[in-house]
Amino acid sequence: MAVKKFKSSLPEGTQIPVHIGMIMDGNGRWAKKRGLPRKIGHREGAQTFRTITRHAKNLGVKYFTVYAFSTENWRRPKDEVEAIMDLFEKYLDEVRDFIEENIRVCFIGDRSMLRPALQEKMKSVEEDSKDFSAMTLLIAINYGGRDEIVHSARKLAEKVKAGELDPADINEKLLNDNLYTAELENDIAPDVDLIVRPSGEQRLSNFMIWQAAYAEYYFTNILWPDFKPADLEKAIIAYSDRNRRFGAV
Ligand code: IPE
Ligand code: IPE
Ligand code: MG
Repeated sequence: MAVKKFKSSLPEGTQIPVHIGMIMDGNGRWAKKRGLPRKIGHREGAQTFRTITRHAKNLGVKYFTVYAFSTENWRRPKDEVEAIMDLFEKYLDEVRDFIEENIRVCFIGDRSMLRPALQEKMKSVEEDSKDFSAMTLLIAINYGGRDEIVHSARKLAEKVKAGELDPADINEKLLNDNLYTAELENDIAPDVDLIVRPSGEQRLSNFMIWQAAYAEYYFTNILWPDFKPADLEKAIIAYSDRNRRFGAV
């Protein structure tokens, strides 16, 4: 059987970001525009997630972090939160398909508040994909950038309390190395290079606030369920044209 080879339509010489963060926003408005319940928007958004994740891998992205549920999203009506959690459970079974594509799947965020069945599935997907190397997919569930920094600070405080760490030795690297993005099996995700937010909103909404210190941003009005592989390519091309200086000249 002929193997379908991926052909990138990116111009020669395009710089591919090592780490892309995707704020998957606009599901509710997508549904509203069609007179459908918000949860249908989330279902469509989940399809887009699969397509775009595969495309990111094919383009050579090494780390792809998707914002699926924030620490603030619990403020939504209970039935919407329930519908989102049901979708996660269903899609975690399907995320297994990624394993066949050599994609390592990890989760970031505070899991302790999630359903035990969901936590179990998350653990088993991580375990089963830990040796895959084409791309690392980080799924942010019950994730908040501030919560992540608090989590890191608490871990450091515990080390101080145990007499293992001198407060004078706390530096940016140590704080960084205790974030959720540092809790991948034998790996620490690098800072995010490009953050993409569809839906027209131009804010981070508590996404990777530490790791985004020098990120580039790309905003588009397209709603997440309508986001296409070509839109990801447009974002990457825009990124490739930016001049990153990191404070130097
Ligand atoms: C993003 O879509 C999905 C989650 C936050 C879970 P929204 O549900 O925020 O969609 P809008 O912003 O209301 O359109
Ligand atoms: C950010 O979107 C969270 C996710 C996409 C998971 P929100 O829709 O929750 O953000 P706000 O409320 O518009 O800032
Ligand atoms: Mg939203």
